[in-house]
Amino acid sequence: MLRPAVIMRASIVFEQNMQPLLRLLQDGRFHSGQALGAELGISRSAVWKQLQVLEAELGLTIHKVRGRGYQLQNPLILLDQQRLSTSHASLGWPVTVLQSVDSTNAEVLRLLGAGKQAPFLLLAEQQTAGRGRRGRAWVSPFAENMYYSLLIRIDGGMRQIEGLSLVVGLALLKAIKELGVSDAGLKWPNDVLVDGQKIAGILLEMSGDPGDECHVVIGVGVNVNMKVVEVDAITQAWTSLSRVLGKAIDRNQLVEFFSKHLQAYMAVHMREGFAALQHEWQANHLWQGRMATLTAGKTPIKGEIMGVDCTGAIRLKVDGQERSFSGGELSLRLSDDT
Ligand code: BTN
Repeated sequence: MLRPAVIMRASIVFEQNMQPLLRLLQDGRFHSGQALGAELGISRSAVWKQLQVLEAELGLTIHKVRGRGYQLQNPLILLDQQRLSTSHASLGWPVTVLQSVDSTNAEVLRLLGAGKQAPFLLLAEQQTAGRGRRGRAWVSPFAENMYYSLLIRIDGGMRQIEGLSLVVGLALLKAIKELGVSDAGLKWPNDVLVDGQKIAGILLEMSGDPGDECHVVIGVGVNVNMKVVEVDAITQAWTSLSRVLGKAIDRNQLVEFFSKHLQAYMAVHMREGFAALQHEWQANHLWQGRMATLTAGKTPIKGEIMGVDCTGAIRLKVDGQERSFSGGELSLRLSDDT
């Protein structure tokens, strides 16, 4: 694993130089060094050097065959900054696509600190330190998945925050279903599962005071075209859109579907609060009525899942009594799940 300072230097080199070469190679066909060099206006040895950087930095496998040239082992559909900027103009969300960043959420918080105005959307092809809930890492290989962070300003106080992560889950579920995954569902608080396997996760990070000035980063990761990961890199059962659908998915389309639904759901949430979406959320909750164990600090709490309340808290029947629980650090597991 590279140290952060080294990653940063290499990323700058990549941002500036490598993208045109990658765009030529993304079709997964063979390209001769001469043709690539001519297209890019550089020498064949410069092409060779750039290929080495692509392999070393992005973990891409490039076949090099004498007489035929260079070919990406797996074709890519890269994020398209221009297309996404155009499609998000009507939402009023400026879009930036980065090639590589530690975490899109972390970068959004840094940009907020530097004075950048909300709302804005940051996407990346790769995260070198993607973060998940409860201090976990989020596996984020190059050009395979969606790494999405939207910064919004909160002016409606707690009402605009209560249940927000569940609202994001509803929008994500709708986008995933729109791509053809009809049997996806939600797991409280905000995982999207298919066949018991996690396909997407949500991490909201707040900056400021909800009673005063406050911003929320809506961070979303979806496993899109990921087929394999290093052994033990992900400890939960997982899947991806391409595994479920049996074909490669254009991440630009997923981003567009998701942003469109997110804005629509956030508008309802802002106007009417989570109560207006409570029943829709419950109808999509895969674990409704199941026995589950809630982990909150050291004390596990076992109960039957009754649903969510009008703030998005989980309702459990514990020893015959209904109780509600909320908080970002809580996690739910089926009781028969070992
Ligand atoms: C989870 O643990 O389920 C939440 C995963 C959230 C991952 C996304 S990827 C984009 C954004 N940037 C991050 O560092 N994390 C979130």
